[in-house]
Amino acid sequence: MLRFAAVLLEIWLLPLPAMAARYPSYGTLQTTKSDGVLNVVINNTYSTINLFDMHVQSDLANLIETLQANDTDVRVVVFSKSVLPLYDTGFPDMLFPVALLWNITQLPQATIAVVEGRTRGIGNEFLMSCDMRFASTSPLRGAMYLSRLIGRGLTFEYVLSSADVDARTAARVGWVNAAFDTSRELHQYVQALAARIALFPAAGIVATKTGINAVTRPSRDVLVQDAQNVIAALVPTPPVQDAFKRFLQVTRNQSIGPMELNYGAEVRRLFN
Ligand SMILES: *[C@@H]1O[C@H](CO)[C@@H](O)[C@H](O)[C@H]1NC(C)=O
Ligand SMILES: *[C@@H]1O[C@H](CO)[C@@H](O)[C@H](O)[C@H]1NC(C)=O
Ligand SMILES: *[C@@H]1O[C@H](CO)[C@@H](O)[C@H](O)[C@H]1NC(C)=O
Ligand SMILES: *[C@@H]1O[C@H](CO)[C@@H](O)[C@H](O)[C@H]1NC(C)=O
Repeated sequence: MLRFAAVLLEIWLLPLPAMAARYPSYGTLQTTKSDGVLNVVINNTYSTINLFDMHVQSDLANLIETLQANDTDVRVVVFSKSVLPLYDTGFPDMLFPVALLWNITQLPQATIAVVEGRTRGIGNEFLMSCDMRFASTSPLRGAMYLSRLIGRGLTFEYVLSSADVDARTAARVGWVNAAFDTSRELHQYVQALAARIALFPAAGIVATKTGINAVTRPSRDVLVQDAQNVIAALVPTPPVQDAFKRFLQVTRNQSIGPMELNYGAEVRRLFN
């Protein structure tokens, strides 16, 4: 009886508005916190396909800044909702997303991405910058952080062929930790894992991340150089500009359609 009352009191003493004030909705991100786990749902209402665009990136930068303060109340962050590719026209500076993703790898909290829906380009880089990924049946495609996860040969195969990779294959090669048949199983597994990690002290999570980051992460200089020299040099060239234009035409400005839903097969239409 006493225990029941204590639970009730605890719920009563933790009014939602207080938590919401500390971790408010950052525009496109809805947050809820309990027992050391912060759940973040990405819902980009500016985009019909939940693009990982400047809105999401700015909101994430604000959220990350709060989390960087080593808040020991939050020990695990779970990101969910589908994130689609970014053909970055929103930020003149390519270094913003690079710095943002680097900051995510650097967070004092353990980070988990729940993948439901298609994930490509910078959306995939975002997943890679989290510590762990779990998927239901959804295609993925991406590049820079990938080779440390799945190796050089498979990275070249997937990136050069621009193929979509299904969640089962992604789990087999280590692109995602595990794939689940249903959304329910996926969320149950991730919430149980997050709760377990959140049992441990924040300092242990930070120390573990520091060590594993040191041996598994691309160097920041390499990521910056890729954004500055490789991508920035390629973007203004006629073949890329033509492909962008064609992409916006066939996707009707990035709305849901065959190209977004079946990119791996449809991508050929951009180049012939
Ligand atoms: C996203 O936000 C909009 C507007 O607040 C809401 O109507 C919609 O249900 C949300 N979608 C999801 C998947 O949460
Ligand atoms: C948080 O912890 C990291 C790693 O221990 C440290 O480098 C950083 O200065 C700390 N940040 C704050 C705001 O205390
Ligand atoms: C990344 O974090 C640093 C502080 O460590 C901050 O100065 C910088 O603005 C952050 N970058 C982004 C893009 O959020
Ligand atoms: C796509 O956007 C361009 C530029 O804003 C506009 O001119 C065009 O009509 C749009 N096309 C569709 C199919 O919405």
